[in-house]
Amino acid sequence: MDVEFLGFTKQTMTNLTIRPFQNSLIPDAANLFVENYRKERLATSVLPALMENPVWVAQKLTALMATCSGVAVLKDGQLVGYLGWFLVNGFRGTGRKGAYVPEWGHVCVEENKPTIYQAMYRAAAEEWAEAGCQVHALTLLAHDHTAEKAWYWNGFGLTVVDAIRPSQPLDISEPTHLTIRKATSQDAISLTELDAEHWTHYPRSPVFMAPATGRDADANVAFLSRPKNSVWMAFDGEVPAGFIRFEGYDFDSVAILETEEGVQITGAYVRPAYRGQKVAVALLDTALRAYQAHGLQYCAVNFESFNPEATAFWMKYFEPVCFSVVRVPEYLP
Ligand SMILES: CC(C)(COP(=O)(O)OP(=O)(O)OC[C@H]1O[C@@H](n2cnc3c(N)ncnc32)[C@H](O)[C@@H]1OP(=O)(O)O)[C@@H](O)C(=O)NCCC(=O)NCCS
Repeated sequence: MDVEFLGFTKQTMTNLTIRPFQNSLIPDAANLFVENYRKERLATSVLPALMENPVWVAQKLTALMATCSGVAVLKDGQLVGYLGWFLVNGFRGTGRKGAYVPEWGHVCVEENKPTIYQAMYRAAAEEWAEAGCQVHALTLLAHDHTAEKAWYWNGFGLTVVDAIRPSQPLDISEPTHLTIRKATSQDAISLTELDAEHWTHYPRSPVFMAPATGRDADANVAFLSRPKNSVWMAFDGEVPAGFIRFEGYDFDSVAILETEEGVQITGAYVRPAYRGQKVAVALLDTALRAYQAHGLQYCAVNFESFNPEATAFWMKYFEPVCFSVVRVPEYLP
């Protein structure tokens, strides 16, 4: 009989075999991921279909498993869970070496899910310790509450949320008194100054992210010259008050959102004096109108869950599809 254990139902590893991943398991692994991703799309229908293609997922898994030993769990010879990772130097600008498991780099069947994840983490973390990893990170699909709980019990905490909305405008009722318009290369210098001010937000309490800098003016000119990119700025007379940046290429996102059908927000800033006056709403609404007119299906964003301004704003208009969780082990053998 099952008994409660650390909040989970206690299950045994009977009939479960854990071993390094082998390429012969790739088709089954891809199918397991696709099955789980379909559940995410049932919860959030605007998600693109790309990662429902097992051939596409298999290609990604082949490349991933070529870089690590991976872990596979089999029950009576059938694959019931797998996990693979990338080793990342300078993880999130911290200088730490990390192991990162992408959202398609792991999956587990429902039966015994917490136990299987616990066993896979034990095996993978041994490799990560040997490789000198000072941080462990994993992205999971937002609908998968059992996986979320399993990783929480494994010592992981929420860090980044990836979220999506259809490129439908917000239909705001009170327009802002500021002027909202698309930035051109003429705005590159004021945009660069505003973005530099934006970056000062992140190292401060309670966010405490590693300091980083934005693009310089030349890089902003180059960015604005590509047709799918845009930055929308708000002006109080001549004074820049805020911006939202949308990237159409090579965005640093989760794979399920990286398609031609969407655009990704990679920066948003409203100067403190203008906050709480729906400036960001007006910027977002105006940009979404433009992208919708160009036939874009969705808009994505990612943000740190511990950034209170970001969480308050994005959670109002976007739906989470991935949670990225992180653990910094207290001791490394
Ligand atoms: C996030 C940010 C751009 C929002 O700009 P803003 O112009 O103040 O936002 P808006 O006034 O358009 O907010 C619209 C809604 O978002 C929510 N919201 C925004 N800021 C909030 C806050 N600090 N606390 C609670 N809710 C907030 C509110 O629900 C608000 O709607 P309401 O007025 O009906 O309550 C701004 O706070 C900022 O620049 N923060 C620092 C940089 C940053 O964190 N950027 C996010 C990058 S991921």
